[in-house]
Amino acid sequence: MAQVKTDQTKFLLSESELPRRWYNIRADMPSPAQPVLHPGTGEPVGPDDLAPLFPMELILQEVSEEAEVAIPDEILDIYSLWRPTPLYRARRLEHALGTRSRIFYKYEGVSPPGSHKPNTAVAQAFYNAKEGRTRLSTETGAGQWGSALAFACTLFGLECKVYMVRISYEQKPFRRSLIQAWGATIVPSPSDETQSGRAVLEEHPDSPGSLGIAISEAVEDAAGREDTAYSLGSVLNHVLLHQTVIGQEALAQMEQAGAFPDVVIGCVGGGSNFAGLAFPFLREKIAGREIDVLACEPTACPTLTRGLFAYDFGDTSKLTPLVPMHTLGHDFIPEPIHAGGLRYHGVAPLISQLVLDGLVRAEAYLQNDVFGSAVEFARHEGIIPAPEAAHAIHGALLSARAADEAGEERTILFNLSGHGHFDMAAYDNYFAGRLEDVALDEAEIQRAQAALEGLPTPA
Ligand SMILES: Cc1ncc(COP(=O)(O)O)c(C=O)c1O
Repeated sequence: MAQVKTDQTKFLLSESELPRRWYNIRADMPSPAQPVLHPGTGEPVGPDDLAPLFPMELILQEVSEEAEVAIPDEILDIYSLWRPTPLYRARRLEHALGTRSRIFYKYEGVSPPGSHKPNTAVAQAFYNAKEGRTRLSTETGAGQWGSALAFACTLFGLECKVYMVRISYEQKPFRRSLIQAWGATIVPSPSDETQSGRAVLEEHPDSPGSLGIAISEAVEDAAGREDTAYSLGSVLNHVLLHQTVIGQEALAQMEQAGAFPDVVIGCVGGGSNFAGLAFPFLREKIAGREIDVLACEPTACPTLTRGLFAYDFGDTSKLTPLVPMHTLGHDFIPEPIHAGGLRYHGVAPLISQLVLDGLVRAEAYLQNDVFGSAVEFARHEGIIPAPEAAHAIHGALLSARAADEAGEERTILFNLSGHGHFDMAAYDNYFAGRLEDVALDEAEIQRAQAALEGLPTPA
């Protein structure tokens, strides 16, 4: 077990230590992820199939097997507004818990929109602007991604249209304002602006929406306009790639701390912040180092712990290619829990494959337990976590407790993917005892997974 050299709280890197390359785990994975398929032909999709939706540079990153991809200077220049982000040792929390373990966290909430999401938003806006697109469309759950893309688009002079999941649009009015402050246009999803939205509203006029529905709307918007590309905030290989600046910085900061994690933890919606922290550490694990890599999700949307590994659509209206991933079924609509960014029926194919290969494991938590841990964290460390990130905190607290019970000392590192300053209504509900714990029953899982019938099965 590595000994921590100092009793320092913050581990900081200088701007000159910003990673110059993104790390592509595809180069090192023991089993390659299976190809994404064209739903019409059942054949792997090629760059030309994706060209109407994405700029070629991102498509090439999506299929790249190079271990490292250089980060353009224009992107590094913008990253330097908030990166490198700090890594903290949670000494006060450790003390309050009375744990023998050391708990570190990487804090992505220092970015202007308040989460890890601009790490890819800035890259995506850059490549789209470079290739002549003038407008981007996207979906957003809790609003973190929509605000990150609005922020990135304003820096590159692009228009931005955001379809925000209706329940979050209502629960988080100030994320909406933030998106507007950065100049983007926003509508609640399902909306009457697209065929996909209208179809859902016809059947379910009170639909709370879901990321799957909002993705359908944003894809339809982009497919119907020459000037517009679609931008996704998670799941895809290139998105996970852009997030790896997090883990690369964390590796250097843990070294500064004279420590190396036994456990690396992140919350998982589509998987991008988890991948961002974990992939550079998984590189070490694949090379032989022992690390427990834990993905945390809500019991209301237990994609990795209870989903099937199958080919499925990334959206509700079946507009996307077929993606090999753990899924609850493309028409599954998760209960409106407050971690809006974790309400997605699928997960990144790269993470699915790593789970299948036993390199990553997953746990699912109830929202009241998660908020309990978030409040405990806030009372000792000060930062109010986003409800999504609070899943990682809960995972870290459980890991520390388990270590104490086993008489072990662990070095635990988790990703605090964002702050919760726009999520205080959720905290209000928690304090008032109004949060419902949702554990999905098996019958609903079976019903939703019937949507997978007739789709190709992964090899
Ligand atoms: C703060 C925060 N963490 C995590 C997530 C989940 O997304 P991902 O799994 O892509 O990191 C979101 C999504 O909105 C988020 O806002």
